[in-house]
Amino acid sequence: MRKLGWLAALSCASLWAQSAAGDKLAPYYPTPATIVEKMLQLGGLKAGEKMFDLGSGDGRIVIMAAQKFHAEAIGIELDKDLCTQSVGRIQKLALDKNAHIVNGDLLKQNYSSADLVTVYLLPDSIDNKVQPLLDKQLKKGARVVAHDFEFKNWTPEKVENIADDGEGRSHTLYLYRK
Ligand SMILES: C[S@@+](CC[C@H](N)C(=O)[O-])C[C@H]1O[C@@H](n2cnc3c(N)ncnc32)[C@H](O)[C@@H]1O
Repeated sequence: MRKLGWLAALSCASLWAQSAAGDKLAPYYPTPATIVEKMLQLGGLKAGEKMFDLGSGDGRIVIMAAQKFHAEAIGIELDKDLCTQSVGRIQKLALDKNAHIVNGDLLKQNYSSADLVTVYLLPDSIDNKVQPLLDKQLKKGARVVAHDFEFKNWTPEKVENIADDGEGRSHTLYLYRK
C-alpha cells in the first residue's frame, strides 16, 4: 500500500514547479502526524537541540520539533509554495523563534551543527547524494532518522516498524548515530 502511494506521488512529480535551483530528490509526500512524532521520539530529540528536516514539505516535522519537543528546528525545502505554506503555519503558531524554513537545495546546506537530521527522500538520492554529504558534515554523535528508505551503507542503531498508521499504511523508521 505504501509503495502505491509513492508511485502516485512520483507520477505527479514532473508537473510540479520548482522555484529554487536544485535537483528534486523526492516528490512531496507528507509523513502522517503520528509517524512524525515517532520519528522525533526515535531520534531522541531534546529541548534546545538543533534539528534539520531535509526536504521539509509543509513544515510538519519542523513544527512538531519546535512546538512539542522545544527544539531549534530548521527545514530545507525546494518548493516555494510549500515554503510559503510552512512559514504561514509557523507564524500562526508563533513558533518563529524556534522554527525556520530555508527555500533552497538541501544539498547546498551545512549540517555540521545538527543534533538530529530527519530524512524522507528516495533511495537513489539517499545513496548517491545525501549520505556522502552527511558523512562529510555531521558531527560525532549526531543522529539521523530515516523514514521508509534506509541509508544502505550505514548500520542502523534501531529499526522501528509501524504496521498501521491508522490509515492502513505501514512505515519503517531507521535510527543512525554518527
Ligand atoms: C517525501 S517529501 C517529505 C516531506 C516532509 N519531510 C515530511 O516527511 O512530511 C520530500 C520533500 O523534499 C523536497 N525536496 C526534494 N528535493 C529537494 C531538494 N533538492 N532540496 C530541498 N527540498 C527538496 C520535496 O519538495 C518534498 O517536499
